[in-house]
Amino acid sequence: MKKLYITTPLYYVNASPHIGHSYTNIAVDAISRFYRLKGYEVFFMTGTDEHGEKIEKAALEKGYSGGEEKKFVDEIVPSFKELWSKLNVSYDYFIRTTDSNHEKTVQKVLEILYENREIYQKDYKGWFCVPCENFWSDTQSQNGSCPDCKRTLEKVEEMNYFFRLSKYQSWLIDYIKTHPDFIKPDIRKNEVLGFLKEELQDLCISRPKSRTRWGIEIPFARDYVTYVWFDALINYISGPGYVDDRKAFDRLWPADYHLIGKDILRHHAVYWPIMLHAIGEEPPRTIFAHGWWIQKGEKMSKSKGNIVDPLVWIAEYGVDAFRYFLLREVPFGLDGTFSEEAFIARYNGDLANDLGNLLNRSLTMVEKYFDGVVPVVSSRPTVASMEEGLISKATTLGSEVDKHMTNLDFSATLENIWGVVNSANKYIEDKAPWKLAKEDKKEELSVFIFVLLQIIATIAIFIYPYMPDTALSIWRQLGLKRSLEEHKLEDTKGWNWTEFGGITVKKEGPLFPRIDVG
Ligand code: MSP
Repeated sequence: MKKLYITTPLYYVNASPHIGHSYTNIAVDAISRFYRLKGYEVFFMTGTDEHGEKIEKAALEKGYSGGEEKKFVDEIVPSFKELWSKLNVSYDYFIRTTDSNHEKTVQKVLEILYENREIYQKDYKGWFCVPCENFWSDTQSQNGSCPDCKRTLEKVEEMNYFFRLSKYQSWLIDYIKTHPDFIKPDIRKNEVLGFLKEELQDLCISRPKSRTRWGIEIPFARDYVTYVWFDALINYISGPGYVDDRKAFDRLWPADYHLIGKDILRHHAVYWPIMLHAIGEEPPRTIFAHGWWIQKGEKMSKSKGNIVDPLVWIAEYGVDAFRYFLLREVPFGLDGTFSEEAFIARYNGDLANDLGNLLNRSLTMVEKYFDGVVPVVSSRPTVASMEEGLISKATTLGSEVDKHMTNLDFSATLENIWGVVNSANKYIEDKAPWKLAKEDKKEELSVFIFVLLQIIATIAIFIYPYMPDTALSIWRQLGLKRSLEEHKLEDTKGWNWTEFGGITVKKEGPLFPRIDVG
């Protein structure tokens, strides 16, 4: 069986999750569900990044005393898990950097690198940004402010441990150039190659306990803890079992995708592959950096107070409308503006009108013309018929979607699926079943209903990765016995692939009640 190992970043637990975090997890969920429908064994991992000075400070600010950090993070982690459950995020494994198998893995990696002389000690003079958890040199510091987030930097003068990043600079450049899928999209690959034109500095991987105690102890230097980024990146190998289940690890590694936001590209596309190479492991296959959700021209973030709270949004409009909007509105990789107007336009247009009405009017016709029982049709309509155009669009949808999903282009995928939704609506208009009923053309009407419902079942399967609840609701209303999840995308290549015929539909209320903006 083919496998897919896919990850999200590990979220810092200094604050509650927001739309930026939801975005990556929904995207990874859609990919995971898509590959499960393709018959892959999927390992989808997400989790939390719990060490470091930032978390230590957040705990103190919340009234926890030094030494109570674990208690603090234990209280925050459930809010992430709860959000993922509300968003239908179907992860297979939730990793925390305070898990003991992760801590053991970090120490193991440190030991290997130390034994191989990839780590050395030197005096460090420079700067540290606590909110970003990044080190900066004198030349990078902008008059004592962080070049990324512009906040005040901490001056650092201390003995530290360094990882020989610079030694592998030319190897990495070569690797990126010979592996076209390694960093995506291309704009991000070029950004990394641009960054690698400057000489790489070795990476500081320690923090003395006199400054930060909340971290993984360095096994060969007990008065130091591991720098939080070095610790966190290793999660991608500790989760699948690097130290405690080598068999599982060998099956899953290398990861197929690391999905991240563009602000953490350097850590993933420079530090991480070099760390892996230095311990003799392959880099992940693809690192895909998506854009930011912006509000009023600025990246949404807790500290700026311009956050869209996913919980408020899904309570108001439902989880699937939220998932649909995030994946459909902006091509994955670019920045997007989140606005209520744009959200409502998509909701009323694509969801309430196009999809919701298609299902509603189709089921109404089964009830009206056939007492709710789907008629049986055994032979495929002729090539020249009106049906055939629609059938061939639906039966070839799989290959179109496959192509877009390989590029993680959710927006184009959904646009393609909506091509079939709209063709089905047009088929109803063109066929004018109300006339067929009036003229008592029962046979033609049977073919019409049978084909229409097959197409709707196909649409349900295809939207499942993006809007699982909606897909399952359509499935239930169609009255199909075998569950949606037992099917494979491959099945939809046949024209009459579901067990329709003689089954009774079960119409429920509208999928997406219109939002009145009046
Ligand atoms: N803990 C590190 C990641 C370690 S991975 C080994 C971290 N955490 S974070 O919580 O600050 O951010 C996690 C992710 O959320 C990043 O990929 C970031 O890009 C994403 N987002 C945060 N705000 C965002 C938006 N406004 N829009 C889209 N995503 C953004 O960095």
